[in-house]
Amino acid sequence: MPTDTLLTPLSETQREIQRLAREFAANEIAPHADQWDRDAYFEPALVGKLGQLGFLGMLLPEEHDGLALDTVSYLLALEEVAVADASAAVLMSVHNSLPTQMILRWGNDEQKARFLGPMARGELLGAFALSEPESGSDASSLSTQAVKHGNDWVLTGTKAWVTSGTHAGAIVAMARTDQPGARKGAKGISAFIVTPDLPGFSVAKKEDKLGLRASPTVQLRFDEMRVPAANLLGEPGQGFIYAMQSLDHGRLGIAAQAIGIARAAFEAAMAYAKERTQFGQPILDFQAIQFKLSDMAVRIASARALLHATAAAKDRGENVGMFGSMSKLLASETAMWVTTQAVQVFGGYGYVKEYPVERFFRDAKVTEIYEGTSEIQRIVIARALSA
Ligand code: CAA
Repeated sequence: MPTDTLLTPLSETQREIQRLAREFAANEIAPHADQWDRDAYFEPALVGKLGQLGFLGMLLPEEHDGLALDTVSYLLALEEVAVADASAAVLMSVHNSLPTQMILRWGNDEQKARFLGPMARGELLGAFALSEPESGSDASSLSTQAVKHGNDWVLTGTKAWVTSGTHAGAIVAMARTDQPGARKGAKGISAFIVTPDLPGFSVAKKEDKLGLRASPTVQLRFDEMRVPAANLLGEPGQGFIYAMQSLDHGRLGIAAQAIGIARAAFEAAMAYAKERTQFGQPILDFQAIQFKLSDMAVRIASARALLHATAAAKDRGENVGMFGSMSKLLASETAMWVTTQAVQVFGGYGYVKEYPVERFFRDAKVTEIYEGTSEIQRIVIARALSA
């Protein structure tokens, strides 16, 4: 049974998007993925290509050059890209789910006109800057300070774990606009659209990571960076709420990425089990291997079913915070488990770079960490259940 067989029927558009993404990923991404990983190389041309395809404005309305697609279509495309390369998928997920959606939802007309078209066309890559070196899971404890000076806000601080940060042209960054001595907790945080040309902006550090090595993750340094007041996004003091609401949806993208990684590992393990012979027969003929492959497929299908049901509920306008966390938790733990099993099916060959499963294994781990760790997802779920 092919693992991309879905229980719920797809519309014509959804099938077309899935096919387009699969072909693009197979032709333009998959042949390079191992080398990009080995070199920790980010291919800038990929942004333009994804933009041409419309894959950087999948959820934006047509008036901003977006494809105005439903969420399931977007997640189908993300899964296909993630099968080829999880690094390319996180670029797409963060860009489509976080900065573009935040500007669409809370930006004024001038901000939408300035940023959304170029972002949809792949001329401006988006990023999201919430975490800091001392503030991760406890996101509202962030300390980057913004102080109003005339028509500008002056921002000082360091943002951490910023996906695509080396190449981003529009970064939605959260900073404190309450002042020391009059702290307002989560309500003292505002959102700003930061561009790398602002005086005082610099990329401070590129992380040397276990996986997702072709996706640049950086620290950004704001050194008395002057941000025009016109770049304040939405209402002052609402930045944390905006970030949380956006992560509710961003987590669906990470779930699709995790499912794509798991599927890649499953497909590799199935192909290997058919061709690898031990004790005089293909190892697929051993029940030990059949059981592993069955369990892998069950978990992938379950994670995808929950994710797509959640996406459909989101498109019906329902609040999917809890189900988004459930989807991300299930998909990321599935990715980690499935990739671990895939390495086991490959045996020694799973542990070396000659085969791609060790990359899938390394790439899977971060899905249990970013956009909220598995522990944070369980907190969100428990709070929703007990409310
Ligand atoms: N939607 C709307 N409002 C929300 C919300 C949501 N999902 N979550 C919280 N809020 C509101 C609360 O209602 C509350 O407002 P009121 O006081 O008016 O009720 C306010 O925000 C503060 O909320 P909490 O008291 O619940 O805040 P908290 O400090 O206890 O933290 C948390 C809650 C769930 C632990 C949150 O901090 C969290 O999600 N942490 C994880 C952060 C995260 O996911 N970071 C990932 C960064 S992005 C990344 O990974 C990099 C990348 O580029 C991929």
